[in-house]
Amino acid sequence: MNKTIMITGANSGIGKETARQLALLQETEKIYLACRSIVKAEVAKKELIESTGRDIFEIIIMDVSQPETVRKAIQEFNGTVDALIENAGGTGGKTPERLTKDGVTELTASNLLGHVVLVDELLKANKLNNVVLFASSEAARGIKKMGMLRPNLETSSTEEFISVFNGSKFGNNFDAFQIYGWIKYGGSLWISSMARKHPNIKFLSMSPGATRGTGGMDDLSFIKRIFLKHIGMKFIMPMLGLSHSLESGAQRFVEGINNPFYKSGKFYASKKNVLTGKMIDQGTIWSDLDNSKFQENADNAIHSFIA
Ligand SMILES: NC(=O)c1ccc[n+]([C@@H]2O[C@H](COP(=O)([O-])OP(=O)(O)OC[C@H]3O[C@@H](n4cnc5c(N)ncnc54)[C@H](OP(=O)(O)O)[C@@H]3O)[C@@H](O)[C@H]2O)c1
Repeated sequence: MNKTIMITGANSGIGKETARQLALLQETEKIYLACRSIVKAEVAKKELIESTGRDIFEIIIMDVSQPETVRKAIQEFNGTVDALIENAGGTGGKTPERLTKDGVTELTASNLLGHVVLVDELLKANKLNNVVLFASSEAARGIKKMGMLRPNLETSSTEEFISVFNGSKFGNNFDAFQIYGWIKYGGSLWISSMARKHPNIKFLSMSPGATRGTGGMDDLSFIKRIFLKHIGMKFIMPMLGLSHSLESGAQRFVEGINNPFYKSGKFYASKKNVLTGKMIDQGTIWSDLDNSKFQENADNAIHSFIA
């Protein structure tokens, strides 16, 4: 049973809605809202208390693109976490290609690096009990309908993953909309590697699916934003039954941590060619996701950026 839950990026979008749904479950005793902005976190906390009638939310300040803030937060953290939902992320802000002082792109830092540090720090402090869910995306295995290509690695070696994480693989052609899927792919492989190393904890990745009403595409270029977010997500995709509500997106994460149907080491997302509906093990669509050598390589590569 997951009584204490930590959610990164919990002040808006799917993270906040997941917090709301979990607070409505009787067994939930505490929800840690891990956010980078105290102002936004306070507003979200107030709204969550009002909408659920439960005063069980505690703010933890961390910016997952800055590992030192994650380390500090966990050093000062007195509780324990039954379920960790690593939800923060997106297309990497306004400068996704820029390198952080840890040597990864901001796209990698905000989706993956800080989340790896967060798990390592919680494990080191013996503060992680049951389950870790990493927010991945169908983009990790390619979304043909949205023009997002499947990550096309040559050898999937540790060196190649390093070049993905620091952006050198892409040279001057850094298109965050495409590379986002590569980073989520690396994250899903890392999670599967962790599942083998820690059989007592459930490690899984899951996509919320194409979810309307979030800030998810706000950092894309003007044209892409207008086309994908304001026309595609709002009108075309709902009409074609290709997207779902915020409630449905968050519901996936609630199921992911609580339902034993979802197994450790796996990546669950929508069926082939769709972005909503029933979730399946993505290894059945693309076997590279189940390749234990690739999983180790992604894990080693991301850890090479951690001091
Ligand atoms: N929406 C979809 O259709 C969809 C589909 C597949 C996967 N996903 C994944 O689902 C997750 C949630 O997406 P969403 O659509 O709910 O996005 P969103 O509305 O943009 O919310 C993202 C949240 O993450 C936080 N965040 C971003 N970078 C952070 C950082 N460095 N440190 C701490 N918090 C940070 C944001 O905080 P601020 O308010 O401070 O920016 C915000 O609270 C993401 O990982 C996304 O890639 C979404």
